Amino acid sequence: MDITGKIFLAPLAGITDSPFRIICKRFLADVTYSELISADGLYRNSKKTYLLTYFTEEERPFGIQIFGKDPEILSNATLKVQSLNPDFIDVNLGCPVKKVIRQGYGSSLLKNFANLKDAVISVVSSTRLPVSCKIRLGFNVDNGIKISQILQDCGVSFITVHGRIALNLFKKKSDWNSIKMIKKNVNIPVIGNGDIFSPEDAERLWNESGVDGIMVGRGSLGNPWIFKQIKDYMKTGKYENPSLEEKIDTLKEHYKLATDDGKKLETIFSMRKHFQWYLKGVKGLKKYKEIVNLTRDYSKIMEILDLIKKNG
Ligand SMILES: Cc1cc2nc3c(=O)[nH]c(=O)nc-3n(C[C@H](O)[C@H](O)[C@H](O)COP(=O)(O)O)c2cc1C
Repeated sequence: MDITGKIFLAPLAGITDSPFRIICKRFLADVTYSELISADGLYRNSKKTYLLTYFTEEERPFGIQIFGKDPEILSNATLKVQSLNPDFIDVNLGCPVKKVIRQGYGSSLLKNFANLKDAVISVVSSTRLPVSCKIRLGFNVDNGIKISQILQDCGVSFITVHGRIALNLFKKKSDWNSIKMIKKNVNIPVIGNGDIFSPEDAERLWNESGVDGIMVGRGSLGNPWIFKQIKDYMKTGKYENPSLEEKIDTLKEHYKLATDDGKKLETIFSMRKHFQWYLKGVKGLKKYKEIVNLTRDYSKIMEILDLIKKNG
């Protein structure tokens, strides 16, 4: 898998599901991921966990991201993931959420290099697929270079670096200089991540750090155009913002994919967050949101979207 110059859609738990990934691919995201998926859940054959592995051909190149710590369980989960035929398998080494680190998963593996090695080698040695790792700079201190070199020695194909330590959650800015230092000190490709909210940010990260590719997370929320905008900007120095009409047409398409044309009632509610992200700044949004937040009537939501379009 050649990742040079590629723009990745970040894994965002509860958000970057198959419908959203398809929308982002249509606006030229190059690579997509599942959200983090529990290796323990796969090991136990949990139905709920398996649902998170769903993807379509349109989302390729597509990686399934797993998290865990026990080498035997990770190895078993890797084989199960491999049988689903993604393009690569990613190991989550960055999640700072309490529930995850309390169990020794995610970013807490960055605290103990011996455990880190055992976990990552168990994945790499269990599959013929490329394995990547998504890291933060460290758990409570920045030892990103050392961590990246360890991962390189474990046989990882590429790494994605979110330029914050886990302890800082989303405080402070993503440290692009630390990402640059990692890039300088490993031979495997490095994807830079953290705080890209515009094509200008993307160009700056690329130029300042020399990374091989970049990853966009929160900047894509309600804004899947960002991938095309970045590409246009890198090529021509210019990009266009979507009109309200285009935003509404895309949101309708997103609803259609997420609810199977209104048939899957359970996902209508989970689209509420996207509704407000796409339509941020629209006059009277509060009123529209109140209606959408209470209804499961697909055609009513479509009517409201048409009304917003008409009212400008
Ligand atoms: C709501 C939310 C969910 C996330 N879920 C995941 C996840 O499942 N796996 C992962 O590796 N990172 C996850 N992240 C981290 C993002 O992938 C990304 O590294 C981080 O948001 C920084 O990039 P950004 O500034 O472009 O958003 C999540 C972040 C947020 C805000």
